Amino acid sequence: MTSGITLSEIRKRARERMGQICRVCRVCDGRVCAGEVPGMGGIGTGASFMRNVDALASVKVNMRTLHGVKEADCSISLFGHHLALPVLGAPVAGAKINFQELIGEYELAHAMVGGCFDAGTIGMTGDGGGPNVYQSGIEALHAFGGRAIPVVKPGPNNQIISKFKAAEDAGAIAVGMDVDAAGFVNMRLLGAEAGPKTEDELKELIRSTKLPVIIKGIMTPDEAELAARCGAAGIVVSNHGGRVLDHTPGVADVLSEVAKPVKGELIVLADGGVQRGVDVLKCLALGADAVLVGRSLTIGAFGGGREGVRCVLNKIQSQLETAMLLTGCASTADIGPHVLARIRTGESWI
Ligand SMILES: Cc1cc2nc3c(=O)[nH]c(=O)nc-3n(C[C@H](O)[C@H](O)[C@H](O)COP(=O)(O)O)c2cc1C
Repeated sequence: MTSGITLSEIRKRARERMGQICRVCRVCDGRVCAGEVPGMGGIGTGASFMRNVDALASVKVNMRTLHGVKEADCSISLFGHHLALPVLGAPVAGAKINFQELIGEYELAHAMVGGCFDAGTIGMTGDGGGPNVYQSGIEALHAFGGRAIPVVKPGPNNQIISKFKAAEDAGAIAVGMDVDAAGFVNMRLLGAEAGPKTEDELKELIRSTKLPVIIKGIMTPDEAELAARCGAAGIVVSNHGGRVLDHTPGVADVLSEVAKPVKGELIVLADGGVQRGVDVLKCLALGADAVLVGRSLTIGAFGGGREGVRCVLNKIQSQLETAMLLTGCASTADIGPHVLARIRTGESWI
């Protein structure tokens, strides 16, 4: 498991293997790949992907070093499972449409779920046009004793219910649905049915499974409350990495207001532009219980398979522990709004 491969080697290999699909930029901000959906970029002008990164960068943290915190413990418990760090692998799928088959669907799912498993956390798997996409994720779940969370597309309810059943049979920890894929261009290109869900449709889906259900793609407080009312166990505050709708706010712009009405009632996850430990700290301070990482782990998978994903997660964990020490947080429960700094810009405070 410890092959000794370095992160720079992983990134170099990924750059070679991914070609024009992802340039593995030194700063991953959605600018070079703007409009590249299918692919790794953001939709349209790329503004939503860019805003995710910029919004997170504009959040500043208070450094505190006069305290007794000598060691930081960043582990959490999620649905009764111990996680070494508050970071999960985001669902990333569609090897054929997004990656022109430069990686196999199962190879990708196996690397993501396996790398998360090795790092002591949980990976999510995705869904897409063809049946092999979701099925590859389910096979990866079987390979790791069910320690993963499959996320389905918002297709017809009867199809989702069968997919939830397959997840139960694979021993999944929970299931998810990325409701924000309702009008996703990739789904249209593949001729797959997907659309918004009414409150009744959502309730039917949540009632159909004994597993906790996570609704991914919530960007407003009213929809967070709606998910709670329908019996969801968690939400992911997410704009799908800026891949579904141009000109949305960044996730860090809305996270605290979306989390506020449901905090403590639902598990609040968030993703979009999280690449380093300090980004995780910021999201937790804004109200998330944990975050998902998508593109950075995908680069790990391309450059080093399961080991590459583990390496990226280990790096984020050590950065987070350092960030916690330097902000006086001994555990994730200590990370709160007091960690965030108010910055003077011109005449106003933000
Ligand atoms: C190539 C690619 C494929 C994705 N496939 C899925 C998917 O199948 N299901 C899903 O819910 N989200 C999918 N996503 C969105 C990610 O789960 C995540 O929300 C997004 O990438 C934001 O995180 P990031 O900024 O860390 O990449 C995909 C993202 C990318 C880049």
